[in-house]
Amino acid sequence: MTATTNLNSATAESQKRRSLRTEILEARPVNLDGFVEEWPEVGMVAMDSEFDPKPSVRVENGVIVEMDGKERIEFDFIDQFVADKSIDVTVAEAAMKLEPAHIARMMVDPNVSRTDVLAVTKGLTPAMHLEVAKTMNVVEIMMGMQKMRARRTPANQAHCTSERDNPLQVVCDAAEASLRGFAEMETTLGVVRYAPLVAMAQQIGSQVGTGGPLTQCALEEATELELGMRGITGYAETISVYGTEKVFVDGADTPWSKAFLAAAYASRGIKMRFTSGTGSEVQMGNAEGKSMLYLEIRCIMVAKGAGVQGLQNGSVSCIGVPGAVPAGIRAVAAENLIAAWLDLECASGNDQSFSHSPMRRIARMMPQMLPGTDFICSGFAATPNYDDMFAGSNMEAEDFDDFNTIQRDMQVDGGLRHVDEGEILEARERAAKALQAVFGYLDLPPITDEEITTAVYANGSRDLIHRDVLEDLKGAQQVMDRNVTGLDLVKALESTGFSDIAENLLTVLRQRVSGDLLQTSAILTRELEPLSAVNDRNDYTGPATGYRPSGERWEQMKKLRHVTSASNPEQELG
Ligand code: 5AD
Ligand code: CA
Repeated sequence: MTATTNLNSATAESQKRRSLRTEILEARPVNLDGFVEEWPEVGMVAMDSEFDPKPSVRVENGVIVEMDGKERIEFDFIDQFVADKSIDVTVAEAAMKLEPAHIARMMVDPNVSRTDVLAVTKGLTPAMHLEVAKTMNVVEIMMGMQKMRARRTPANQAHCTSERDNPLQVVCDAAEASLRGFAEMETTLGVVRYAPLVAMAQQIGSQVGTGGPLTQCALEEATELELGMRGITGYAETISVYGTEKVFVDGADTPWSKAFLAAAYASRGIKMRFTSGTGSEVQMGNAEGKSMLYLEIRCIMVAKGAGVQGLQNGSVSCIGVPGAVPAGIRAVAAENLIAAWLDLECASGNDQSFSHSPMRRIARMMPQMLPGTDFICSGFAATPNYDDMFAGSNMEAEDFDDFNTIQRDMQVDGGLRHVDEGEILEARERAAKALQAVFGYLDLPPITDEEITTAVYANGSRDLIHRDVLEDLKGAQQVMDRNVTGLDLVKALESTGFSDIAENLLTVLRQRVSGDLLQTSAILTRELEPLSAVNDRNDYTGPATGYRPSGERWEQMKKLRHVTSASNPEQELG
């Protein structure tokens, strides 16, 4: 009787008074994040919805006439594209007879080779890919990724942007990002008309020092293609595809128009990949009551069917949507794995920031960082996040030392390394001077020595001397009107005493002629040699096989800002 009374009064009390513990928990950053209950009717469900279709396939005379419970006559344009272009009809019926869990076990079984898995996955329908993924927990997804990732050696991609679209900041940060190990870097703009100058700056900065990184500039598609054609960028990535017909059409596109665009890039030897990710259809209000992962699988298959070599996925800019529902981050890990098991290069998200919680930020990255992907982050901000014009990244410049330490702790290669400050300052200065010289040579608005000194030592755009934006924009227009190309940049560098950068840039541009960068997962090494799934095929078959950081690379990874010397504890090794 007494116990009940006490309980009642505690309950009454709890309605007005909060415990100190609750107050502390309430104030934790994670509680600033948004969470919602599942709502499958509008697609607010990660990967487990009763409204998703059940797998089925029927092939007649080499044509898929029924897929996932729909007759061919009922297909929307994504179904049609996927059925005709993305599924190997010669193996479809046999592959679809296998149990989903059996296929998932092939994925994690080290005795089954990557090639053997691909022989099955190429015959699966969208609903079947989903059923396979649904049988896997995150650790199994990671095991799958370890084997199914296309390139043996993992890599990383940077965002190299400026809140003020300042080309000088971008040339310095691109040079630093290159030194730190990024294999790709991309920029985008606040003021789109600035693009030619900023893309040029990134292209030049990336080739300072050893050179090698490929660069891109995310813009509206015609301009992006034009910059690529001219060699002011080295690849393209933000060619968006979507999982429902309505949302696809809202982007004024179809799978065929995207495939045509892909062919335009390929015709000039320019590397390109598509972009998609869970949550875009919900965000754009037309998920047709399907789960996020089911719709994303349709996107992955459109990429496959269009013949592009890779995909940037992992929700990307929509991460807040899967991040808000149960098992959302598991679904995001699954979408990366499905891209890999369809033999596509995967630039695996971990780009747009999605959480206030430092712990959640790291947890979200583990399913890609631990097994390794072709690009762990498809945009690690090489700047402070306020400068990240892709709306902030999950990882930013302030996280460099933490990231390097995690690599060292786990002996896991995330593609980056610690670099001594002296080396960084030298590269930033050389990059800034090269841009100054190129601007001078091309008669663009001058860059002063004072601006250079400030940019070399800056953290972000807030530390910089402001440029005359109107003059810069006129200069940017000049670059377009005068038809400046990547070769003009090479000439300008060569004529102004920057032959080493000119040589690197020319080598990058020359790759187009060979077409080597069109191979799956292609990047350039620091020796400027193509490294792709062709000459660096992932050969993981269980313990003691596959990629493991060793030799020179592991020595690099051991270095951090502060490491105490064993022979002389007074000394810190840089
Ligand atoms: N689906 C499709 N495209 C996306 N992008 C980012 N996230 C997605 C997604 N989930 C593309 C858009 C955007 C660029 C940064 O990448 O084109 O502008
Ligand atoms: Ca990217």
